Amino acid sequence: DKGGHKHFMSKEIAEQPTVIAQALGHYLSGDGAIALPEPGIDFAGVDRLTMVACGTAYYACLSAKHWFEQIARMPVDVDVASEFRYREPPLPDRTAALFVSQSGETADTLAALRFCQGKAGSILSVVNVPESSIARESDLVLPIHAGVEVGVASTKAYSCQLTVLLILALKAAQDRGVIGPDEFADHVSALRGIPSVMSEALGIADNARRMGEKISQARDVLFLGRGQMFPLALEGALKLKEISYIHAEGYASGELKHGPIALVDQNVPIVVMAPRDRLFDKTVSNMQEVMARKGKVILISDARGIEEAGEGTFGTILMPTVQEVVSPILYAVPAQLLAYYTAIAKGTDVDQPRNLAKSVTVE
Ligand code: F6R
Repeated sequence: DKGGHKHFMSKEIAEQPTVIAQALGHYLSGDGAIALPEPGIDFAGVDRLTMVACGTAYYACLSAKHWFEQIARMPVDVDVASEFRYREPPLPDRTAALFVSQSGETADTLAALRFCQGKAGSILSVVNVPESSIARESDLVLPIHAGVEVGVASTKAYSCQLTVLLILALKAAQDRGVIGPDEFADHVSALRGIPSVMSEALGIADNARRMGEKISQARDVLFLGRGQMFPLALEGALKLKEISYIHAEGYASGELKHGPIALVDQNVPIVVMAPRDRLFDKTVSNMQEVMARKGKVILISDARGIEEAGEGTFGTILMPTVQEVVSPILYAVPAQLLAYYTAIAKGTDVDQPRNLAKSVTVE
């Protein structure tokens, strides 16, 4: 049942405020304490975290790396599952291995998990399907509570993965004694604010439709982001490729001049994801480099960012202002909606893109 939507994908994008609220309800108690499912985990006994996943779930891990490093001061490795296993990485026993998978059945992720069994100190999984193979073989299962995701392109599972991973990073920070009560309370309040700012962010739909119509004319599209926005640039490019079949690449803004800028001309839309955070000025100077080469910049930012840097761009998408820590969760919305409306403009099959399956059970 598409609940009045034309596609499962748009229904699932629209459901995000509700399902994130659900996930928050499962992990945060009324007094703001974090409650993990049994048997829980004490990160005081963990020195290193290894995260493994595929596709969009891998990008969720890249965002989580920032959170675990910055908030929990914990060293983190992130790998795509198909690469991790064959490298046979050493896993000291105070390493926790964390697997992220919507379906819980992805063959490469499951094989990576099995490689870690008996080596890592503990095996954690963040899944949408609690009855899945990955969940069954984990020491601790953290369900994302996104509800069934039908669209092949992952949307609400991604933002719920991010939400649960941020909560886990906060728990790690607490266990390791590296976060004070005020900072902790600030992060919890930012988390609790997500459903309402996400509803507000869904209001960009009309604008995203107009931008999508423009993007649908392009042959190549670049997505740029720095810091916390780099994984979002990767996700925006993946979503676009998947459902509109337009070639897209996500780059760290600072990498632009090391090669990809050669692609830029007046035919290339460049989507810049840049909330007005402490890295904003750097991203803007990268953005100006592509504008000087006539690249068509679509700047996605908050009111202050658009006021400071919107001039001379091809288009802007105005996002609500949020605390920096939760911006990756919020900026999932423009990544998804740009892909969705570009695909609609091209007339491709949004829910069932060619060559793709919802669950990839072969390596
Ligand atoms: C992208 C997408 C895929 C999956 C990947 C992992 O929209 O859906 O990249 O994220 O195949 O799948 P799961 O999360 O089920 O392990």
